[in-house]
Amino acid sequence: MSKILIQNGRVIDPSQKMDRVTNLLIEDGRIAAYDVASADDCEFIDASGKIVAPGLIDIHVHLRDPGREEDETIETGTAAALAGGFTSIACCPNTEPPIDSQGTVEYIKQKAARAGNCNVYVIACVSKNREGKELAEIGQLIEAGAVGFSDDGTPVYNAELMRRAFEYCLMFGRPVMNHSEILELTRDGVMHEGLAQLVLGLGGIPAAAEDVMVSRDVALAEATGGWLHVMHVSSGGSIHIIRRAKKRGVRVTAEVTPHHFTLTDECLRTFDSNFKMNPPLRGQGHVDACIEGLQDGTIDCIVTDHAPHAKEKKMQELDRAPFGIIGLETALGLVVTRLIEPGHLDWSQALEKLTINPARVIGVEKGTLAIGADADVVVIDPHVEWTVDPAEFKSKSTNTPFAGWELKGRAVKVIVGGRVKLSR
Ligand code: DOR
Repeated sequence: MSKILIQNGRVIDPSQKMDRVTNLLIEDGRIAAYDVASADDCEFIDASGKIVAPGLIDIHVHLRDPGREEDETIETGTAAALAGGFTSIACCPNTEPPIDSQGTVEYIKQKAARAGNCNVYVIACVSKNREGKELAEIGQLIEAGAVGFSDDGTPVYNAELMRRAFEYCLMFGRPVMNHSEILELTRDGVMHEGLAQLVLGLGGIPAAAEDVMVSRDVALAEATGGWLHVMHVSSGGSIHIIRRAKKRGVRVTAEVTPHHFTLTDECLRTFDSNFKMNPPLRGQGHVDACIEGLQDGTIDCIVTDHAPHAKEKKMQELDRAPFGIIGLETALGLVVTRLIEPGHLDWSQALEKLTINPARVIGVEKGTLAIGADADVVVIDPHVEWTVDPAEFKSKSTNTPFAGWELKGRAVKVIVGGRVKLSR
């Protein structure tokens, strides 16, 4: 396989606490050496003024395939991932059929391999058919390659089932990744319960619906010794609960999306369904809490919750349109523009939450540029300013609230397993 020498880039690899300008040699699909001045038979990438980092990893992606290919396919979703700088993603099991069998895990892995874009890992269902009644065949799913368990889209509602899921997954060292929502509190809810919701007269989704479920799950994780991964955290209350749980030594990790650290429920005044997702956009206090959680390490990962929905579905009235927005192609720009540029996080902190931390949650040997590691690399132009244009997206769907936004920072080269998959 050919060699690639990435020259003069600022290499930031939080897994090695590395941040320095150097040359990085890739050989035979692996990270081969640093500080190499030149090499024979080599492709050169000039990374002067750029950041060279481990390929980004998003552990919360809805690929919709199988079953809802009108929204996204494995080919288009993984192409969108590359366009956003991601070299690995983990896909969620709320497909049709849900990912609760070895056959479905294998289907996704084979299709992802055929697409040949980025690495795809599979999060399988906690419960059979995602019905919340009976535990899925966790052992068999792990054998097939599942890296985590979730019924996302909906919570694991039955506390007894959740307890068993913790106990079972503990045997395999895998996390239970829950969508935290008390459904009695959110029924008919469209947006965050607050002033804007009151004015608009839409159904409310109170922050307490998330906080109560996170409390329950923390208690069950503590009781069983299991590993709770809290998906798409959005409320200050749940961040507080997670922070305290971590201090007590409970095995809990958490993730936040760019939209939850960027937007508020005030956006819904436009009645644009691209501001409708679950959990919902909340008030500024919650946004600030998300940023504080990122800063102090309470929140481990930044994920997109990339949730494509075909245009005709999102074009329905706000209370009928489905929850969710896409995010793979805007995440990095939002991290740079909304977290790094204002000084909330430095590059190492931000990249840690986009590389090594998510790799650890799903238990894969990725997210590092250590010598010998798979050569999954992103070269980022931290200065480039660009306008979000959904017409240019690789995703099959365009349901983004960020159309027309001016963002700073973008992936300009994406290398997966030593092969250049994106170059702009
Ligand atoms: O907004 C959301 N969309 N939240 C979820 O939990 C599921 C997701 C989807 O699958 O569309």
